[in-house]
Amino acid sequence: MTDWRTLDAPALRAERDRLRARYDAFRARNLTLDMTRGKPSPEQLRLSLPMLEGAEQHYVSPTGIDCRNYGGLEGLPEARRLFGEYLGAPAEQVIVGGASSLAMMYDVCVRAVLFGVPGGEGPWGRRETKFLCPSPGYDRHFAICEQLGIGMIPVEMHDDGPDMEVVERLVATDPTIVGMWCVPKFSNPTGAVYSDEVVGRLAAMPSAAGDFRIFWDNSYAVHAFQGEPAPLRNLLTACTEAGHPDRALMYASTAKITFAGAGVAAMAASPANVAWNLRVMGIQTIGPDKLNQLRHVLFLRDMPTILAHMRRHAELLRPKFEAVQRVLGRELAGKGIAEWTDPRGGYFVSLNTLDGCATDVIRMAAEAGVSLTPAGSTFPYKRDPRDRNIRIAPSFPRLEEIEAAMELLGICVQMVSSDRLLGR
Ligand SMILES: Cc1ncc(COP(=O)(O)O)c(C=O)c1O
Repeated sequence: MTDWRTLDAPALRAERDRLRARYDAFRARNLTLDMTRGKPSPEQLRLSLPMLEGAEQHYVSPTGIDCRNYGGLEGLPEARRLFGEYLGAPAEQVIVGGASSLAMMYDVCVRAVLFGVPGGEGPWGRRETKFLCPSPGYDRHFAICEQLGIGMIPVEMHDDGPDMEVVERLVATDPTIVGMWCVPKFSNPTGAVYSDEVVGRLAAMPSAAGDFRIFWDNSYAVHAFQGEPAPLRNLLTACTEAGHPDRALMYASTAKITFAGAGVAAMAASPANVAWNLRVMGIQTIGPDKLNQLRHVLFLRDMPTILAHMRRHAELLRPKFEAVQRVLGRELAGKGIAEWTDPRGGYFVSLNTLDGCATDVIRMAAEAGVSLTPAGSTFPYKRDPRDRNIRIAPSFPRLEEIEAAMELLGICVQMVSSDRLLGR
């Protein structure tokens, strides 16, 4: 395969003409494919339908709690035990909530902005605050900061986590940095898994802010679709051992285990963080949906059951991710115009084009009927400084749709790249 950066102008123009014909043929097909969000497919959602069977009879928990009634702010004891096992924390340090872990993270940020966190210097909203944002990252994390007026500093993501030299230097010297977003396993969108060394450094690094928190969004903890579940060092334990027990706020949900719109979310943290949240939550609500928590406890039971269930998800997801690799490889490999990740789990593939191409590629794909996550979304303030990152979300569409969408994406990347190399 020839590196396109070594081709002369006539050769590039010839490629461009061939691609134009293929692109026009795609447009004539009037496709409408949505690859914007990482949603489970209907086949995946079907795997958890047995959870609803006989649901009308399941309202008393194994420890005798009537889940139909009010109460249990911290979550059903059986659900706290299960999520404790899942997140690697004692049940007493777990709060089990509603359907969305994102909502839990949002609520904790709002509480911090309004009231301040334990051990802190008052409400975050009364002083200048910033979060470190490993990028490319999850657009909805960045949107929370933007909405709440928390500044954002992008930090480059590597294969084993964020650039720790930069993280350590900034956190140690800038007292306005009060937080950091991390998706430590099968990260959104690159699929990277944080190494033990990175987790250890995050836990141990000195911070200029006394109330620095790491939002550890472990959304894809058991979501391997290739090989064994990758191990991840426990941040809460590492922080406690390093003398920073309040630093870690760990989150998970069953959004991509059972039902994305009707799962159960949980957080695990130090006793001080848990007590603080429960104190504030006591004004917000009388308790979560314990019936749904009970359904989940009876269906998911324990870690071996969860892992067996996730192997069935993996069977459905693996062919889709393999199709992405196969088609992108066929269209783009060896041309020096794009590189992309090949994750072992999670919900996304991250593709980088040549600098300055992503916006045009996504626009062209949309004009031919394939919607991708908008350019820039994976960076704070939706500004990708190199305009090159594209997030691919292959979980929802059918296999043949993914193949078509990836072929079109490959054609668009080649067309825009040839234009750039021709100086247009
Ligand atoms: C990293 C990450 N965190 C959180 C979420 C949303 O989780 P939930 O449905 O539990 O709010 C997603 C969904 O795509 C995600 O990718």
